[in-house]
Amino acid sequence: MDFERLSKSFQQIFGVAASRAFFAPGRINLIGEHTDYNGGHVFPCAITFGTYAFARKREDSLVRMYSLNFEEKGVIEFDLDRLDFDEGHDWVNYPKGMIRFLKEAGHVIDRGMDVLYFGNIPNGAGLSSSASIELVTGVLLQGLFNLDAERLELVETGKKVENDFIGVNSGIMDQFAIGMGKKGAGILLDTNTLQYQYAPIDLEDHKIIIMNTNKRRELAGSKYNERRSECESALESLKGVVDIGSLGDLTEEEFENHKGVISSETERKRAKHAVYENRRTLKALAFLKDGKLEQFGELMNDSHVSLRDDYEVTGKELDALVEAAWNQPGVVGARMTGAGFGGCAIAIVENEHVDRFIEEVGNEYKEAIGYEATFYTASIGDGAKELNKEVIV
Ligand code: GLA
Repeated sequence: MDFERLSKSFQQIFGVAASRAFFAPGRINLIGEHTDYNGGHVFPCAITFGTYAFARKREDSLVRMYSLNFEEKGVIEFDLDRLDFDEGHDWVNYPKGMIRFLKEAGHVIDRGMDVLYFGNIPNGAGLSSSASIELVTGVLLQGLFNLDAERLELVETGKKVENDFIGVNSGIMDQFAIGMGKKGAGILLDTNTLQYQYAPIDLEDHKIIIMNTNKRRELAGSKYNERRSECESALESLKGVVDIGSLGDLTEEEFENHKGVISSETERKRAKHAVYENRRTLKALAFLKDGKLEQFGELMNDSHVSLRDDYEVTGKELDALVEAAWNQPGVVGARMTGAGFGGCAIAIVENEHVDRFIEEVGNEYKEAIGYEATFYTASIGDGAKELNKEVIV
């Protein structure tokens, strides 16, 4: 990221200099998919791609926002006392929702601001660009207005924006990973209790490769909410015979013993995924801690199969990428990451095989799907933070 370029753009767009700069990453999820709204575990990490926000407080109550990613939308403005969702405000609804809910929680945000955003997370790729905008706005508001807020409050506010402002019934994984991420570490999070632990990701002579299907994934319009209610309905049936609060409370054996009470076959499959994926995530962490990368990779593969066959959220693009990846030399494991229905997959690949891997998988994908996939090497970075103040004058 070019700090000077963003400072300059700010000056050009708003006619004054920015006073503070902030950053929030995107995320990948190593394993534990579609478990976060089922009371299960997830194992994501923050990546070094993310969203930058340069800001300056104003004297009045006007908020002006501009994104270098959506230049055609121009400067979008609203007043601090008009914080309703507005379709015409497009991407600005994410930061607006953060302001609204933090104010509603009693935080004092009493002056307007000019904010310039720039993100280098590929848009719509399922690497959580929206949660990244939410959290960069959260740390920005905290910095500009000295908000007395714990990090977890910003994380939960981000989720609330997604759920109650934008209308996507997502879980807490993305905001948590982005708010709490730590360089070089994955975060094992129990979404039931919000207890978490960092686990160093030491892949020795391997890299995590992100593979983008370049099929855009629109979460709100997707089947995400449908999957969620299918799981809720399966849980209700199970509650008739076992004393549980969520699918994450069940072992595989318990599920097998009681699954007969779920009358819909589809719902049974959805619940099976949620239960088994949760257990896989715990096993995966144990393997990683023991340095058993190969077994970790096998669980990644099992996760993809379950998401493909039981949860049915992969689609032909993700399957083409992941199945091509499985057949390459030097690949420890590969799976889709995030919500699915397009977006990105990840693979753990031995360093010396990476170039060949990208070429081969890229070719096979293009042949099967008709357009190119994009590949990036993931670096695991820190969570949302203020950038060095001295850099800005
Ligand atoms: C999206 C949601 C998350 C999580 C994943 C699937 O990224 O925002 O809460 O449910 O999908 O694991």
